Amino acid sequence: MATGTESLIRSAIDSLPSRVNIAEHIAPGQYAAEKERIFRRSWLTIGHTQELPHKGSYFVYDVPTFNYSLLVVRGQDDVVRVFHNICRHRGNKLVRDAAGTRPGFACNFHGWSYTTEGKLRLVTDENEFRDCDLSNLDLVPVTSEVWNTFIFVNFEEKPHCTLAEWLGDLYDKYDGYFEPQEMAAAYQTEVNTNWHLGMNGFSEGYHTLYLHKSTARDYQGGKRNPERHRPTIEVFERHYRYSAPGNPDKVFLPGEKVAAKFGRMIIPAFDFDCTGLPPGLNSAGHDFWAFDVVGFYPNFVMLMGNCWHNEMSFWPIDSGRTLVINHGWTYKPKNLGERISRSYFRARVRDVFREDLNTLEAQQMAVSSGAITEVVLSRQEMALRQHFVVTNRMMSEAK
Ligand code: FES
Ligand SMILES: [Fe+2]
Repeated sequence: MATGTESLIRSAIDSLPSRVNIAEHIAPGQYAAEKERIFRRSWLTIGHTQELPHKGSYFVYDVPTFNYSLLVVRGQDDVVRVFHNICRHRGNKLVRDAAGTRPGFACNFHGWSYTTEGKLRLVTDENEFRDCDLSNLDLVPVTSEVWNTFIFVNFEEKPHCTLAEWLGDLYDKYDGYFEPQEMAAAYQTEVNTNWHLGMNGFSEGYHTLYLHKSTARDYQGGKRNPERHRPTIEVFERHYRYSAPGNPDKVFLPGEKVAAKFGRMIIPAFDFDCTGLPPGLNSAGHDFWAFDVVGFYPNFVMLMGNCWHNEMSFWPIDSGRTLVINHGWTYKPKNLGERISRSYFRARVRDVFREDLNTLEAQQMAVSSGAITEVVLSRQEMALRQHFVVTNRMMSEAK
């Protein structure tokens, strides 16, 4: 029976299945093929250009799916590049710390060093290599592109499509949104779950009424929309987005009142002001819009409010284990009050995130037991239906 607001589903959905054989997707035998047919053939985001504020700024990003360590660096020429974080002498891991700013990179094993543009600059005791070919020993580049402030990589030898083609309809819808924000929270954890279950856990709002009943008890929906139906749901060729309904009748708790008094609302998102937002946000123009959820296939989901966004990446380690990275981004605080306000939301996001993770290990254990094979997906779980359609397509496309 329909209750509350009917979701506006702005996509062709007839071909999306409402029952999915989840046991097949999380089976250990699937994983080796998924790595090559899905993860190697996708554009994958690893961070933002704001994390590289100066010439010589760098960060290291480890991708457990392929055992890759990536060195992401802004060169002296201001160009952002991505390299494999490997010394070309004998394969030592070149940069060991997480992030910083340096004029170049020296290996701690035998002292070879490289420029911030990845050129081999110094071979120590070079004369002893006089019978060696030392040409072509710069750092190994990884294909990368910047979209807005996002840094994307692609591990195909020759990417079969551009980043613009990969992002499709979403490519030109978010200009200017990310630049004013800074990273305010960073968490990561390894979870005993399959990556599909991880992505699925963050790709629908159906669970919020139940799983988050104590942390986010009346943040969404309210009397007008008691089942918290998403006002708009859209699925694209690979990706999806939907809007989350705010609750204008929410009762503020004492801590929330303080946070709301000194800074902008983040979570709960009851600052309904959509002024100046790019066309991708609240694209159907709903009143009491809280935030959008945007998923980039295969492993990235973000919640996007009017002055904040929260990102989650799911990197499979093996078929039953996933690295989950959570980064929260917000407006830059101008004073102490805004800083204190932001801390409240940072703690809130962490609590809600932990509740979401809690179901994943239980699901993994239950489904991998074989006691059930199929799951059934509602209209509110349209993004999950789409996820498995794209998965099946990519698995059969690239044999
Ligand atoms: S492995 Fe880096 S200098 Fe030898
Ligand atoms: Fe959740």
